[in-house]
Amino acid sequence: MGNREDDRQEMSGTDKKYDVVVWGATGFSGRPAALHLNRFYASQGKIRMAVAARSKSRLQALLKELDSPEIDMLVCPGDDAEAAAQVARSARVVCSAVGPAARWSTPMVDACIAHGTDYCDLSGELHWLRKMIDTRDAIARARGVLILNATGVDSIPTEYGVQRLQQAAREAFGEYCVRVKGCFAHGKIAVAGGSFLSGKGVMEAIADDPEMREIISNPYSINPTGDLHGYPPCPDLEHVVYDEDFAQYIKPFPVGQINARVVRRAHSLAGYPYGHEFTYIECALAGHSAWDRLKAILETRAVGLFVNTNPRTPLGKMLMALGPREGSGPSDEQMHRNGPFGFVYWGRTQSGKVMRSWATSPLDVHRATAAMMAETAVYLAKQRADVLQQGGFWTPGTAIGDALLKPLQRHRVLDTGTTQGLWPNIRIYS
Ligand SMILES: NC(=O)c1ccc[n+]([C@@H]2O[C@H](COP(=O)([O-])OP(=O)(O)OC[C@H]3O[C@@H](n4cnc5c(N)ncnc54)[C@H](OP(=O)(O)O)[C@@H]3O)[C@@H](O)[C@H]2O)c1
Repeated sequence: MGNREDDRQEMSGTDKKYDVVVWGATGFSGRPAALHLNRFYASQGKIRMAVAARSKSRLQALLKELDSPEIDMLVCPGDDAEAAAQVARSARVVCSAVGPAARWSTPMVDACIAHGTDYCDLSGELHWLRKMIDTRDAIARARGVLILNATGVDSIPTEYGVQRLQQAAREAFGEYCVRVKGCFAHGKIAVAGGSFLSGKGVMEAIADDPEMREIISNPYSINPTGDLHGYPPCPDLEHVVYDEDFAQYIKPFPVGQINARVVRRAHSLAGYPYGHEFTYIECALAGHSAWDRLKAILETRAVGLFVNTNPRTPLGKMLMALGPREGSGPSDEQMHRNGPFGFVYWGRTQSGKVMRSWATSPLDVHRATAAMMAETAVYLAKQRADVLQQGGFWTPGTAIGDALLKPLQRHRVLDTGTTQGLWPNIRIYS
């Protein structure tokens, strides 16, 4: 950390060369984030940006693709604290698509805190988030540095889908919903290498430390420090069941477990506006027929085999070897086929009134993830004075509020809506 005078100068942002630096810009999510930022902002002179990554040659290839002489590149390997400091010093906001974050991103978070640079990333790695909140939140608050994690498809659609549902319930009924459920409703998620590696990292952390298993299985595992009370109970769905409110079968949804924890964390950060009885769970729609049910059961068992097998055992190692490789992901054509996606949300108030909402994207989940993180970064860089919090670990919804929905909608990344009737065009996850 520099001396106080240097810090003050840096924290005013006046000597920051870039509004946004995308770190991990050569990766599967980082590249589309850089393209999005260039297309909508840098190429129109709305932001100054740089791309950063560990490989100089891959950065040069990306710069060629971006074809914009104003964009700089910065080489920054994950284990190089000095390079991280240089990136953080130069930026108002670092947005990171480096993964697994648990393995590589701690020095960058520390550098951002030290140099007064806001930071957002895609991480939903629960063990790392727990550690970072416990060990860095206080200092980030003290230094006025905002840290926003999971700013992709986990967990922006769900945080805003639930927030909008609650606003609509409050306006229509004068009360919030106490019971809310969400479902991934249509689209397809093809797991890319980076997400697979990050998931494997969480499983290894659990295998290596029984205490970590207990912490992570707590539905409130990423609540603010000292608020992991575990009440009211809202266990993750483990089996395929018929759901009356969605009028079809629903099945476990691994990403939904992260989204649900983010919703509970946001609720705690906001001071429990929906009341202490509020519960949220998230699953995926599975269809109406006996065949749909059977398919969902088989898929749930296959996914369960992956996520419940200790990756340190011979069977676990064998299963892990079957997963996608680091840096790999679906082709452009596959992503196009996986197509638009959407979530639906259902909520009931204490007095039994029902509100529904949705969050949909015309993009596939990978491009949408990159674009959501990019928009979060631009908001922090350009509208910092309007941000609702000064510093610390927050969520996009609690730090930025509804204002983030405007650019997401304008650039056709995410649309949200509410209804007291049925959701429009509800489709089946397949
Ligand atoms: N929140 C969400 O909705 C969401 C969605 C998708 C992914 N994710 C998360 O985002 C992360 C990235 O996923 P992805 O699919 O883009 O993965 P990826 O293609 O494997 O990209 C990983 C990135 O990390 C970089 N990296 C790896 N090791 C590094 C090191 N030692 N030093 C510096 N950089 C390093 C890679 O650099 P190279 O380019 O040089 O290989 C690459 O840029 C993962 O943690 C994943 O779980 C979250």
